[in-house]
Amino acid sequence: MSTETNNEPNNLNFNIDLETLEQENELLRRSLAHLKSELEKYKNPPLLVAEVKKVVGDKAILKLSNNHSFLVNVSSAMQGKIEPGDSVLSEQKSLTILDKLEKVKHFETHNFVVIEKPTISWSNIGGMDKEKQEIKEVIELPLKKPELFKEVGITPPKGILLHGPPGCGKTMLAKAVANSTNTTFIEVVGSELVQKFIGEGAKLVKELFELARENSPAIIFIDEVDALGAERMDIGTSGEREVQRTFMQLLAEIDGFKPLGDVKIIAATNRLDILDSALLRPGRLDRLIEVGLPNETTRKEIFNIYLKNMNTKNINLSKLVQLTEGFSGAEIKAVCTEAGYFAIRNDRKEVRQRDFIEAITKVKQNEDEDKSYISMFG
Ligand SMILES: Nc1ncnc2c1ncn2[C@@H]1O[C@H](COP(=O)(O)OP(=O)(O)OP(=O)(O)O)[C@@H](O)[C@H]1O
Ligand SMILES: [Mg+2]
Repeated sequence: MSTETNNEPNNLNFNIDLETLEQENELLRRSLAHLKSELEKYKNPPLLVAEVKKVVGDKAILKLSNNHSFLVNVSSAMQGKIEPGDSVLSEQKSLTILDKLEKVKHFETHNFVVIEKPTISWSNIGGMDKEKQEIKEVIELPLKKPELFKEVGITPPKGILLHGPPGCGKTMLAKAVANSTNTTFIEVVGSELVQKFIGEGAKLVKELFELARENSPAIIFIDEVDALGAERMDIGTSGEREVQRTFMQLLAEIDGFKPLGDVKIIAATNRLDILDSALLRPGRLDRLIEVGLPNETTRKEIFNIYLKNMNTKNINLSKLVQLTEGFSGAEIKAVCTEAGYFAIRNDRKEVRQRDFIEAITKVKQNEDEDKSYISMFG
């Protein structure tokens, strides 16, 4: 690199350069400070939602969602701005009131639940006759023929717990029974329920059941219920206590002061092993239905469902059924789609046996990769 030796640096230019650099420096300093404060925000624990009971001078009495009350400080920004009945956000440890929530009578239940009338019918689900039968008995029959249960003198179960590996039809079964009974289908995901503001989970569960009663007959489908009710070693952090409270509220709703009537609960999990046994006690979700990997008959019927719409030639179905031992329903569907792609890549309009064989190898390979990824990072 050459340096300017014969020309004296122009003083004016030098000053201008210095000025821009200083400006730039200031800009970077500010952006650094901003990023640091953003980072701090993420490091901070989430805020608690609580209710103001009383304002006492520059302090306030706060009621938490577990019904305990505390005398707490009010941040200077909030002085004079809160009154009894307000919902406020508190710092987690000191409970200092930091902010006020807009007054809402109803939480936005609609934002986190999916309400629909599903279109999946029993015939869209291949095989699984035993599982279908059981769900029909527990959910469909009591909704369709309540008088039968009155006459016999028994109360049907409040709900069921579907458990088993991913992609084996739990969600499909829940939707099909909602469809066949023509009920409102309200779907929530356990992990989403607890990732909301601390203090809201329990309230949301309460509103969920209210919503179901208002729209009954209804089925509440709680997917990933293990996110709410996992057996916990210790409930040390307040985040876990919050999950616990949400779970308690769920149990309370199931036990219910108010009869559930035409509201049925279907919960689903991949992790029965970690599920809190309190949920499974008699009178709660005491009907467990295992939705396991499809057996030969079911695999054959799942293939038939997807093959029906495909343009195939010379397919040896029993061979495919044999080769897909250990595959989930979702994977069998993936095999059919992949097989179609192999045909397209080969400029054919009809799908042949070897396309399916290649597809099976590919789907199996993907699954193996997922497994090794999970064992490395999961
Ligand atoms: N018996 C079956 N008949 C037809 N398709 C099936 C069957 N089982 C699974 N599938 C296919 O797999 C997909 C996934 O099924 P579903 O969502 O019901 O699985 P799941 O058990 O709820 O899985 P997860 O535990 O991951 O939520 C379905 O959308 C469907 O395409
Ligand atoms: Mg599912």
